[in-house]
Amino acid sequence: MADPVYVTDALIAEDIDAYLAGHEKKSLLRFITCGSVDDGKSTLIGRLLYDSKMIFEDQLAALEADSKRVGTQGQEIDFALLVDGLAAEREQGITIDVAYRFFTTEKRKFIVADTPGHEQYTRNMVTGASTADLAVILIDARKGVLTQTRRHSFLAHLIGIKHIVLAVNKMDLVGYDKTVFERILLSYRAFASEIGITNFTAIPISGFKGDNITALSDNMPWFKGPALIEHLENVEIGAAADEAKPFRLPVQWVNRPNLDFRGFSGQLASGKVRPGDAVRILPSGKTTTVDRIVTLGGNLDEAVAGQSVTLTLADEVDCSRGDVIAAADNPPEAADQFEATLVWMADEAMIPGRAYWLKLATQSVSATVQAPKYEINVNTLDHLAAKTLDLNGIGVVELSTDKPITFEAYGDNRTLGGFILIDKLTNATVAAGMLHFSLRRAQNVHWQASDVDRDMRANLKNQRPALLWFTGLSGSGKSTIANLVEKKLHRMNRHSFLLDGDNVRHGLNRDLGFTEADRIENIRRVGEVAKLMTDAGLIVITAFISPFRAEREMVRAMLPAGEFIEVFIDTPLAEAERRDVKGLYKKARAGQLKNFTGIDSPYEAPENPEIRIDTTAMTPEEAADLIIDRLLG
Ligand code: ADX
Repeated sequence: MADPVYVTDALIAEDIDAYLAGHEKKSLLRFITCGSVDDGKSTLIGRLLYDSKMIFEDQLAALEADSKRVGTQGQEIDFALLVDGLAAEREQGITIDVAYRFFTTEKRKFIVADTPGHEQYTRNMVTGASTADLAVILIDARKGVLTQTRRHSFLAHLIGIKHIVLAVNKMDLVGYDKTVFERILLSYRAFASEIGITNFTAIPISGFKGDNITALSDNMPWFKGPALIEHLENVEIGAAADEAKPFRLPVQWVNRPNLDFRGFSGQLASGKVRPGDAVRILPSGKTTTVDRIVTLGGNLDEAVAGQSVTLTLADEVDCSRGDVIAAADNPPEAADQFEATLVWMADEAMIPGRAYWLKLATQSVSATVQAPKYEINVNTLDHLAAKTLDLNGIGVVELSTDKPITFEAYGDNRTLGGFILIDKLTNATVAAGMLHFSLRRAQNVHWQASDVDRDMRANLKNQRPALLWFTGLSGSGKSTIANLVEKKLHRMNRHSFLLDGDNVRHGLNRDLGFTEADRIENIRRVGEVAKLMTDAGLIVITAFISPFRAEREMVRAMLPAGEFIEVFIDTPLAEAERRDVKGLYKKARAGQLKNFTGIDSPYEAPENPEIRIDTTAMTPEEAADLIIDRLLG
């Protein structure tokens, strides 16, 4: 039988165990190919698969479906047919996703993420690149460094890919001319150093003819190597560099099968750890030492970056999912305000001021993003002024989180510096981000505890604080009913305060208009004020259209459970428009008032309000009584 690491199709058929064992010993290189069909990307990928003679069954099946002429053994596949198959697949799947292909050589396993190259597919490229160790940037030798070459290089560098290969393709079409290659090399080097790429490997190839792919080609005796596959097989990846960094383990879950065992499981993001090492739990800052490193295969003397383990600790310290266990003498920072680069990946533009879920390693917090400091034109790398980021937009932003997160700069640690933003309502991933640094201003402002607390203030008033949050269309009756509610509460000796949209917009919020961003900021400020007033022990009533679910939920989350009472003043648009108390609907219909709620600006009705008032079925008096009944009952 063949050497176990020498994999052949025959071996797979004969002895699947030996085949898998051989595979396990090999390291895995994840890489991405950047370029367009014109650059010969499908041909190159086809060449890599073809020359490595490892075409997997599922790919064969796909190809076979395409053409009955294809055999089942890799060696029997016609190269041209394979490339056609890949190109066809690529075209069909172009808007969908990233195609991951697997192949292997004697030395290494490879996963190549094949992403479309056009600008409108930036998000796909970022997705593919996020887990890659290496990027192959394809250039057509006849065309040289193009705008897309710059874009791909910038993105690969932005995502933190350390190894860049400049594959100058179609050398056969320029007569294998050394000067052509050197000219391209020179111009790329100048550009690369501008964006901070200090190191890259340039290889002249022909994907079509197979030159310098597996072996050095006789057609280019002037090129001393390495050949592309040789380079992919030998390039040093991740592990060693990550192990040299300080120890960090983001806790994925707490393992507590019984009362005697409490272990903290996760994958080492960087560094090494041994039993007896002093560690610090973040963000609490508590220190202890590692007792044991437990794995399914038994206890370890040492665990290194990339390994998944369970640690037991010498002391009973608080530690839960999302915490980071780190080297005690070299812990990462925790902060709640940052500068970051964002790649926007959703069809809907970013909404400054809106709260999104932010996931970083095993941590999940609520985060709001401010309008970009600038957007980066990925083709020219110019910095542009921008109010938001659209699909595929890349910008530098400031963001703040509701709780401190433990992090490192993305450049130092991809795991603790990379994050995604998730829309709270749709659960869709809307952006990928890279943290640069924390903003110091948050660190020097500490929460000042006062001796008289909210309970004491409320007790003195003989009441429980609450926030009656009215929402509904303009003219739905919010102010009228809210006013009645306050009058009644006052008669009952309750201490209250009514915040009304039209009034607050005369003072605190007079700088705000009715764009989406301004309405969000309006509600954020009102939420903060209402919260302070409940801290003062008051029953607060607010009457704002507050058209967006996300911001109403944001205010809800700011208060203790049960204190936020959403009151939906449910008046159909037609009815509000018929009443038109302030004559605003008429103006809006006449086009004299832009962004009017219900006309050309959306209203998202509450899905589960605590109280719903149908104003077509009851009088304002009845509505007020019902609300008070629910509040105090
Ligand atoms: S919110 O959307 O930001 O919550 P808010 O309740 O503060 O709105 O203000 C709404 C009031 O402003 C309306 O009752 C109306 O009197 C007035 N208004 C003026 N322009 C608009 C507009 N374009 N859309 C809605 N209301 C407007």
